[in-house]
Formats: sequence, C-alpha cells, structure tokens
Amino acid sequence: MSDREWILEVEDVAKAYTLGSVRLEVLRNIQWRVRRGEWAALLGASGSGKTTLLNLLGALERPDCGRICAAGTDYRTLNGRRAAVFRNRKIGFVFQSYCLLPELSIWENVLLPARMAGMTSGASAARARELLERVGLADRLRHRPGELSGGEQQRASIARALINDPELLLADEPTGNLDAATGEEILALFHELRRSRPNRAIIMITHNEAIAAQADTAMILRNGVLTAG
Ligand SMILES: Nc1ncnc2c1ncn2[C@@H]1O[C@H](COP(=O)(O)OP(=O)(O)O)[C@@H](O)[C@H]1O
Ligand SMILES: [Mg+2]
Repeated sequence: MSDREWILEVEDVAKAYTLGSVRLEVLRNIQWRVRRGEWAALLGASGSGKTTLLNLLGALERPDCGRICAAGTDYRTLNGRRAAVFRNRKIGFVFQSYCLLPELSIWENVLLPARMAGMTSGASAARARELLERVGLADRLRHRPGELSGGEQQRASIARALINDPELLLADEPTGNLDAATGEEILALFHELRRSRPNRAIIMITHNEAIAAQADTAMILRNGVLTAG
C-alpha cells in the first residue's frame, strides 16, 4: 500500500493533564491510520478522551509524545503561524460547542475562513451560499449565533468547517444537539461528501453506535486506549 493512501497517521501518541498534584493520563500509546476516502467514527464514553484526541488531530493542541502526520504534514513542523495556516487550508473543525463568533452574522461566520485563505469574494460567496443552503440555513444568513437554536448553530458550524474544502473534516459530536431528522440530514451530507470528495476524509465523534455504524470504520476509546470497533 502506498503511503499516499493514508491521509492521517498517528503513532505512539500520549497526552496527560496535570491539575495540581493530580496527573490524568487521558490518551496512551495511540495508533491510528485513516485512508483517503474514509469516513471514520470515534466512539467512547463521556470523559474517555475523544475531544482531546480530536484537538490533537486538528493541531489545536500538541501531544506529549508521538507523531501525528496529516494531509502530508508532520505536525512537529507546525509552529505558531504555520499551524494557523495549516488548519485554515487543510482542516475543517466542527466544535462540540460550535465556537461561532457571537458578534458576526451566520453569513460572516461561514465566510471568515475563506477570507483568511484569500479566496476571492465572488467564489467564497457562491460557496457559502451553497453550503448554507445544504445545511438548511439559507433564510438565516443575517442572524447572529445567539439568535439561532443549538441545532442551527451546529449546522452553521458545519458549513463554516467545509468552506475551504478541507482535506480532513473533524467533527466533534456533530449530531449531538440535533433532533433525529436534522441529524439524518447531517449524516446524508457526510455520505455525499465522502462520495463527491474521495481524496478527503471525515473523522466524526459520536457516542451513538447506530450513527457510528453509518461510517466506514469505527474506533473506540476506553481508558485512554484506542482500539478498532
Ligand atoms: N484542558 C484540560 N485540563 C485538564 N483536564 C482536561 C482538559 N481537557 C480535558 N480534560 C480531562 O480529560 C478527560 C477527557 O476529556 P475529553 O477529551 O473532553 O473527553 P470526551 O470528549 O471523551 O468526553 C476528562 O476527564 C477531562 O476532565
Ligand atoms: Mg467531548
């Protein structure tokens, strides 16, 4: 198998947090490879370290040891500005708590990563419009995040994550705050993304095994150890 088929390689990664005198080993000896075209689910009980692992994969945090390589980049080379540029160009991140900017409209929130990437305003506006239509928010463009329901903010954050056509879409419980019907729409969107963007990959956290079953592969975090589901 050619190395190029792996969009993500994680080797011997560990992460611990120390609070006062208490050391919490959240992730231990993590090994994971994800192929281009793959939609992977990451399962685990609450507090098992799923968000911590996703933050490492999104270059939002650094592991204590080990190697992470994604979209052709070894994360050890990512310092400061390089990390920001890498995330902007290569990674789409859907946060569990959305992390939309409260002062900006939904339209501006979704466009922001495209502006940072220097996309022309015509191209980015067309893409933002298309994505907001696909997530069912075409009539909420002028709203601010605080004027939307949790599910609507979730969908806006998915549109924002996709605006720069990321190689790796990392989604932290993207259906967690949605009713069943809206959750199905998000999963249909992921199915469609996988079909239309076979060089990319999706990693989706969920604690719902029925949702994980829609993905191609599933991994489970237990006691800081990752195993195939
Ligand atoms: N910044 C942090 N400082 C200290 N402890 C943390 C921090 N982030 C997460 N933790 C702890 O690490 C564990 C795993 O958290 P998390 O990755 O959020 O789990 P999950 O997403 O699976 O619910 C939890 O016990 C949590 O309290
Ligand atoms: Mg979490």
